[in-house]
Order: sequence, then structure tokens, then C-alpha cells
Amino acid sequence: MSGNPSFEGIKACVFDAYGTLFDVHSAVAQCRGLFPDPDSQADKTSEIWRTRQLQYSWLRALQNRHVDFWQVTGDALDFALESVLGNQGPAGLRDALMGSYLTLDAYPEVLPVLTTLRERGMKTAILSNGSPEMLERVCEKSGVGALMDAVLSVEEVGIFKPHPSVYQLAADRLGVHAGEIAFQSSNAWDATAASAFGFKVAWVNRFSQAPERLPGQPDAELRTLDELPPLFG
Ligand code: LAC
Repeated sequence: MSGNPSFEGIKACVFDAYGTLFDVHSAVAQCRGLFPDPDSQADKTSEIWRTRQLQYSWLRALQNRHVDFWQVTGDALDFALESVLGNQGPAGLRDALMGSYLTLDAYPEVLPVLTTLRERGMKTAILSNGSPEMLERVCEKSGVGALMDAVLSVEEVGIFKPHPSVYQLAADRLGVHAGEIAFQSSNAWDATAASAFGFKVAWVNRFSQAPERLPGQPDAELRTLDELPPLFG
């Protein structure tokens, strides 16, 4: 079986966490019934929450004012709730939503794909903005943690993606060259930045988004992670 030539010689598969392995919108889905008017409020809150979470991570990196992703996630949620509900909503909603971020659903193909990769001798790792505790909790709950050689948090370098020092952390900790890492992200901005850094990149374009106009170019575009193992032949 022949794979994608760009992915020859790959020694480690490194995955973004939120949006790639874990469905970020499952947090709101788990708490939908707690919204006063779920149909008009739940999806909107989830979209704004995720968008602001990423924006705050980039803006804090630019300002050199780092706090961990738990704080950023909470700040973004507060903004989203006030934007959509006009206040923090019913008692318990905020805490329930934050708690759900620790029990996000893994996408259905994640566990079988990780199992296949490991059976074929590939090292596996997560490289995420998430704080160590956030990642530990979601990895344990989903079963993903047992299928990872390393779970790497940006807290080790103290700045969020797409700062190059984050991508360097994966190469350093896995002991492989950047060009021997296949990096998977559904976040196109993360995929392009990882490519610009020197990883081989599979962009998991789960939501049929247009390509970003940013430095770097993914080597492959996948619909789901099911399409990852065949890249290696
Ligand atoms: C992460 C964010 C970018 O897991 O989704 O790093």
C-alpha cells in the first residue's frame, strides 16, 4: 500500500486537542437543558465562547500577558454568556459549562485511529493550549490518555499557539526532528503555523472551511482522522 510521499519517514503523530480530538461544542451540548431558551441561546453561546477563547489566547500572547487556558476559557465563557443571555444566566450554568470542558466528547474515530497508529509503531502525542490539568481530565475521561506517549501543554513554554516555541516543544520532548513529526489540527491557523514551523501537517478540515491565507501550507487535507493512517502507506 502506498501512502502520501510527504509523510514518508514520519516517527511521531502529534495532535491538537480542542476541535481536533475533542468536540468543543459538546460542552454546551451536555448542558443544553440549563439554558433558559436553548434553541436561541445554546449554539450561539458555544460559537462565541470558542471564538473568544482563541482570540483571547492570541491577544494575550501578543501582549505578553499569559494566563493558563482554564482562565482564558472562563473569561471567554463569561463574555459569551453576557453577550447572549445579557448576564451570567441561571445559577449553576457557568459552573456546569466549565465542568463540561473537562468531559468533552472525543470524536468517534479518535480511539480506533490512535490504536491503529500505535499498533504500527508510531509515537503519539498531544500538543495543546490546554493547561496540564484540563488535558489530564479530558484525556482520562475519554480514554485518549492511555493511547498517548506524551501530553504536552503550552504551560511548559508559557505562551499560546501559534508561537513557534510551542511547536519546538514537541520536537524537543519527543526527541525527533520537526520534519519527522506529522501534526494534525482541525484549526486551520494552527495547521498552517505548524507547517511554517517545519512539521508535516494534515489539516483535519471537519467543517469544510476555506483555507487560511497565512504562512505555511498543510501537506494533506482530511475530512476526519480516519483518513490519517493511510497517509503513512
Ligand atoms: C488546542 C487549541 C488550539 O488544543 O484547540 O491547542
